[in-house]
Amino acid sequence: MFRKITLSAIAALGVATGVHAAGGAGHVHDHAFSFEGPFGTYDQMQLQRGLKVYTEVCSACHGLRYVPLRTLGDEGGPHFPEDQVRAYASQNFEVFDEELDDFRPAKPVDHFPVSGDPNAPDLSLMAKARAGFHGPYGLGINQFVKGMGGPEYILSILTGYTGKEKEEAGTIFYENTAFPGGWIAMAPPLDDELVEFDDGHANDLHHLAEDVSAFLMWTSEPHMNARKEAGFVSVLFLIFVSVVLYLTNKRLWAKVKRKELAS
Ligand code: HEC
Repeated sequence: MFRKITLSAIAALGVATGVHAAGGAGHVHDHAFSFEGPFGTYDQMQLQRGLKVYTEVCSACHGLRYVPLRTLGDEGGPHFPEDQVRAYASQNFEVFDEELDDFRPAKPVDHFPVSGDPNAPDLSLMAKARAGFHGPYGLGINQFVKGMGGPEYILSILTGYTGKEKEEAGTIFYENTAFPGGWIAMAPPLDDELVEFDDGHANDLHHLAEDVSAFLMWTSEPHMNARKEAGFVSVLFLIFVSVVLYLTNKRLWAKVKRKELAS
């Protein structure tokens, strides 16, 4: 937020000179997620909704192989109670157990499965692997102003379908304004009211896309809340130490300075 205010003038310059998306790069819209800025944190309810969207829709093709299921109970994440994490794991996923030499329901110690569709990339780190914003002129100022844009990239892909399709070498491609090159081999995965929430939260296409993008940011950076809190406490501590050192310095030199004044 702070960065946005101080540097919005520079951002405006970038827009005015038209140095955005060049070549085949897709267009990524900025979006104000709750976790942006130096004090932004994840919205626990949003992460829970995003998990539901991932589970019911994306998990059919995309894995989250680097994410242990038990982290769904972590503070600063979806923060489900332990029994719900256990139930979620066993009801939704099966893993191959080498000792049993057979499949069994997943437990919290297991990870989310790998991608079911070999062409669908693993999404564990996707929000960190893609940058939504670039430039101007390779300076990276847009990223400084708006953030890296990983979750915005995912959000823009999910909402960037134009409805046009084409077939090439037996594969159907869908026109997408955010995907580099403009054509993606993923059919539009979301639609209005595709997923329903127990609390009746808005479930139009845009809200579903927002929630799952926020969830995928959490899988990429599960300890963001703790990191920002530690940073804030450190800065407070450094300010305190600076004041103490300043006063100590004054006191240590006080005698010498008084003599100088007297002579
Ligand atoms: C029917 C299978 C299928 C489903 C369901 C699906 N995807 Fe995909 N997804 C794919 C495939 C295949 C690709 C690779 C497309 C390409 O490279 O052209 C892809 C690509 C992507 C990409 C782009 C990755 C990149 O390389 O930049 C993102 C982001 C993504 N999917 C997110 C999601 C999310 C979020 C959901 C759930 C809302 C979802 N997908 C549901 C099959 C699927």
